[in-house]
Order: sequence, then structure tokens, then C-alpha cells
Amino acid sequence: MSSHSRDSWKVSSSIVSKRTSNPIRAIVDHIKVKPNPDKSMISLALGDPTLFGNFKIHQSCTDAVVKQIQSYKCNGYPPSTGYPHARKAVADKFSTPEAPLTTQDVILASGCSGALEMCIGVLCNEGDNILLPRPGFSLYQTCADSKGIQVRYYDLLPDKNWEMDLKQLESLVDERTAAVVMNNPSNPCGSVFRKQHLLDFLKVCERQHLPVIADEIYCDLVFSGNEFFPLASLTKTVPILSVGGLAKKYLVPGWRLGWIFIHDRNDIFATEVRDGLTSLSQLILGPNSVIQGALEEILHQTDKDFHDDTCTQLEANAKLSTDILSKVPGLKVIVPQGAMYVMISIKVEEFKDIPNDIVFTEKLLGEESVMCLPGSVFQCPNFIRIVFTSPPEILQDAYNRMAEFCARHHI
Ligand SMILES: Cc1ncc(COP(=O)(O)O)c(C=O)c1O
Repeated sequence: MSSHSRDSWKVSSSIVSKRTSNPIRAIVDHIKVKPNPDKSMISLALGDPTLFGNFKIHQSCTDAVVKQIQSYKCNGYPPSTGYPHARKAVADKFSTPEAPLTTQDVILASGCSGALEMCIGVLCNEGDNILLPRPGFSLYQTCADSKGIQVRYYDLLPDKNWEMDLKQLESLVDERTAAVVMNNPSNPCGSVFRKQHLLDFLKVCERQHLPVIADEIYCDLVFSGNEFFPLASLTKTVPILSVGGLAKKYLVPGWRLGWIFIHDRNDIFATEVRDGLTSLSQLILGPNSVIQGALEEILHQTDKDFHDDTCTQLEANAKLSTDILSKVPGLKVIVPQGAMYVMISIKVEEFKDIPNDIVFTEKLLGEESVMCLPGSVFQCPNFIRIVFTSPPEILQDAYNRMAEFCARHHI
């Protein structure tokens, strides 16, 4: 609580701001090593597919946004949960017979991050606990910490294609567990869960009466031999808030348009959670009006070929990454099945002077000017995460440098 005599300036930051911190920044900002000035910098650290221009957005998306701006019709405040026509467009696009959606079941948000913030905020009180995947996207923890929610990690198992350790997950549940977050396809793992695994997960949620926040921002970004199943399509009983958005599948992360789907066929979220989400949406009044105005055309005119091309390009890059890096002594690649990431285990015992993932990342940057994220930022020490959205020739260059780097430091 702030209190001070009013005879001088004393302004401090709030408790909430102090407990809000991004683990990526906390670790990466402490890397003091500078890139090697003799080598061009290659960053494989950012999950932003727009960086090199090799993943182009669909022309209809650009046209739709230009049209909205020129119409002058979308310059005002939309309702805080989104324009009804934009919510309906999302519901129509993502509704399936197994998991039907109406306009009322969709809430628009400022990116998938905004959607996650609202979902965690509506289900959890300060002092409750929430189950998060390890390794996992760091925003979940940032959000929980900020709200005073205790974090309990359940493990994803690298030797089982990063499937959830369901036994351990269930052992973490107690009377203060308010929700579980699952992420499929996964950042940082690049994994895609099998249908049976999702059904087994739902059994645990059913048994424990545990609502789910399903982060499906990478929906449909899957490689040959894998299939994406929306979690909500596999249950009629477990209440699920699914989150997603335009950032990855539509390749426009900067447009900040995300959504929440309320999947609740037994009215478990009615009316409290639905009303709660509406209340939370009033904090920042939803995502920007222009993209909302263009949403119907973005969703309905971006054809299947566009998405297929994105997946083909990603899969080729995933294969290139696996082919080269799996031959490098000291590294073990966990082959990705989707999304835009690969996790690589560092066999630290095979290196002379690399005791952990943070030192690996620092030295790689200092010697080869290649930047990737240490697994520690995802609660997964002795791994590194690589984003494989760069053009193949850049990936090739980066991987050659990594191979030379590993050879130099290998025992
Ligand atoms: C798993 C996951 N969820 C959510 C987000 C946030 O998406 P947005 O950019 O729409 O806020 C990301 C972004 O990288 C992500 O990887």
C-alpha cells in the first residue's frame, strides 16, 4: 500500500508492476556478450515470421485492411468484446460440428497475449494455483506472477515427442488449482499432440473438474504425418477457453488480433465466467477497429493454398534444421512436428567448457554471431530453442557456424 507524507515527491512503482517480469528478458538482458564483429549477425531467437519477408501475407489481407481504412467506417470504438460482425466471422470460420461456436462464444482480444491475460484473469484469484507446461511459453508465467497466482509446472517429455506427463500433472492438482494451460502445437517444442494423448489429458481434467485454457495459436501449422485436433472438438463435458489469433497462421503478429472461444456445452462457465470475460474486456476495449473491420475478409478470403504454402515452407525449414543439426556432435534434435520451433538438447557432458545452455548461447553469440534462446527461459535448462522461419540459405549459414562452434568446444 502506498503511503507517504505529501511534502515531497516520492513516486514508486506498484507491487503488481514489480512482480510482472518476462523470463525471456530477465535472462537475455543479462547476456553481456557482444556478437563477433567479423561475422554478420543471425538471430534465430524471435518467433516472428515477418522478419525476412520470405513468409508473405495473402494479398486479400492487405486489400481488406486498405479498404477498411478508406471506408472511414471503422475509426470509432467497437464494443469491448469486438464488433458483432467480426465475432461472427470468427465463429463461422472456426465452428465445427463437434465444437460449435456462435457469435456469443467469441471474444476478440489484443493478440493472443491479450486473450491469455483475460482467460487467466477470469479463472484464477490471487493465491490460487495454475498448471503450466514446462517447457512452455513464458507469458503464462508472467501473467500468473503479475496476478499473484501460484505457478505449478507439469513436465513435457522430450523422449515422447514432448507429450504431457499426465500422471505428474494430475499429482499437482489440489483444491486451489483454478485452471490448466495446455499449448498445442507447442512453442517452444514444435510438437503436435496425438488425438489419444489429448483424450487422455481430457480424462484427467474431467476427473479433477479442471477447466482448460487451450493455447492453439499455432493451429493447423503441422507437418506431414501429423494432424491438429482442436481440444474442444474432443470433449462434450470439459469446459475450455481456447485462444488463438492472426499472429502465426495468418502471418501478421503486429496486427494484434486475437480471440477467445468459450466452449462450454454444459453451462459451467455461464453466467459468471462469460460475464467475467466481458468485464475484463472492458479494461482496454478490445483490439483495434481497422483489423476487426477487415477480419471477415481476412478469414474467408485467405485460401487453403496460402496456408498449405506456409506449412510446406515451414516443413522444409524444419527438415533442413533436423538434417544438419542432428549430425552435429554434442547436439540432439527433438524432431519438430509443427509450429516454427525446434528444441535441441545440449549434451553438456560432451563439451570442454560449456556447462549449461546459457553459456552455450553466450559463447555462440560471441564467437559466431548466432543468437538463439537458452531453454532456461522456458524452464528447460540444457536445451536451446531455434526459430526456423529464416530463409533456408540463412539457416544453412547459421547451422554451419553452429557445427564449427560445437566442433571447437567438443571434448
Ligand atoms: C504459444 C504462444 N501463445 C501466444 C502467443 C502470443 O501471440 P500474440 O502475438 O497474438 O499475442 C505466442 C507468441 O509467440 C505463442 O508462442
